[in-house]
Amino acid sequence: MQKRPVLSIKPAAARSAAAAGKVKPAAHPAVKPVLQPFYKPDLKPDSLAYCLLAAANAVSQVKAGAALPQALSKVQIAVAPQARGAIQDLSYRAMRQLGRTQVLIGLMTSKAPEPAMLHALLCCALALIANVEEGEAAMPYDDFTVVDQAVSAAAAHPDLAHAKGMVNAVLRRFLREREALLETAMLQAEAKWNYPQWWIGAMQAAYPQQWQHILAVGNAAPPLTLRVNCRRSSVADYLARLAAAGMAATEIGPYAVRLAQPVAVNLIPGFDDGVVSVQDAGAQLAAPLLDVRDGMRVLDACAAPGGKSGHLLELADIALTAIDSDRKRLPRIAENLERLQLKATLKAFDAQSKVWWDGQLFDRILADVPCTASGIVRRHPDIRWLRRKGDALQLAAVSAKILDNLWQMLAPGGKLLFVTCSLWPQESEAQAAAFAVRSGAQRLAAPGQLMPESDAQHDHDGLFYALFQKNAD
Ligand SMILES: C[S@@+](CC[C@H](N)C(=O)[O-])C[C@H]1O[C@@H](n2cnc3c(N)ncnc32)[C@H](O)[C@@H]1O
Repeated sequence: MQKRPVLSIKPAAARSAAAAGKVKPAAHPAVKPVLQPFYKPDLKPDSLAYCLLAAANAVSQVKAGAALPQALSKVQIAVAPQARGAIQDLSYRAMRQLGRTQVLIGLMTSKAPEPAMLHALLCCALALIANVEEGEAAMPYDDFTVVDQAVSAAAAHPDLAHAKGMVNAVLRRFLREREALLETAMLQAEAKWNYPQWWIGAMQAAYPQQWQHILAVGNAAPPLTLRVNCRRSSVADYLARLAAAGMAATEIGPYAVRLAQPVAVNLIPGFDDGVVSVQDAGAQLAAPLLDVRDGMRVLDACAAPGGKSGHLLELADIALTAIDSDRKRLPRIAENLERLQLKATLKAFDAQSKVWWDGQLFDRILADVPCTASGIVRRHPDIRWLRRKGDALQLAAVSAKILDNLWQMLAPGGKLLFVTCSLWPQESEAQAAAFAVRSGAQRLAAPGQLMPESDAQHDHDGLFYALFQKNAD
């Protein structure tokens, strides 16, 4: 029997944030995933079986190299609208538990279940019944509902129907031998931490004291954090507005308000009118660090989807040029600025080149460069499974070229803020230190590496900040 109705699962915060166009994209290696169309099963769209099948489709695409938001958007187009929140939730849960569920499946089967969808279905179902961190009581379904619905899901799919007995046997065995299986699985770091082995080792090497805390924070569901538009409201007034709407929230930064319960963006008071935007509290440090003032010429060099562009424009009347190399992402900047009723010049160009530049120097430059996104894994739990060990160095080579190019566009006395959403030193501190030597820039005070945190007062992703000033002539 179900503990709660299937569709009572709240859409994850990541969904609301993605819908708001404020989530940073993961730079992703050029893998061509095999996108499987979602097979529409003969199941009720409000059943767990239907949602498990759809989530398994998204998860199998991630295993083939697709980013989860991209995989989910293909699935979501094909499914019944009322199931979308639950499918999103199941897919994100599966990503956060993938290390453990894969090891468990390995312990209970003699060879990897095929096709990939079958393996993914087992991962999605096990993520609901083998979640040690959240505990059984916090799970939205009871164990036997999950088994029953996973078997129904397999039975309803032509490629999986042959294996419905196997799905039943594996999941029931897990329930019977839960303690022993979990104990054996947890001996493997990948099952214990739910990250790839190389990632765990690299984090341990980079942060010998903090690696366990970093990995644990990255496994928690992210909060929904808002940035209050200081042109439109104070944080205190907005908190009062939320309270009047019956929504509990906490102030966690000069402009940052964290909602106690994530909600869809259309339910956030003032969102449509530009009073608030969805943005992590760590990302909200960028614009104030640049110290923009009225009349300045400012460049946001890797701007999409425009989260930090919007904040810069809220802080002062500046002439902002926002460029991004991905033409398809420029409309996201435009939509966000339109909602905020603010304006910038938008251009689709590569920040490594100068072909787009009119030769006029900028007073401030924001370089929020492409990176592995290893600091935002709680919002994008698929990233850890998609990245490869060498990605950080490859991306660092690109961002070094971006920094060297942008430095030539900065006015004497001007400031450049280098930002990554990564925890890997190769693309953050090592990059900043090497750039300071190459450019002769003066390094000003900035937070450096922000460790991801999630407690009552501090709740932010793992971003990196380095601020440079050009000597006045
Ligand atoms: C971390 S995201 C930027 C997030 C954005 N600053 C915000 O706060 O919403 C990095 C962006 O850099 C863009 N990008 C990647 N390579 C680039 C390049 N060579 N030149 C310009 N933009 C690039 C990506 O398309 C992506 O939108």
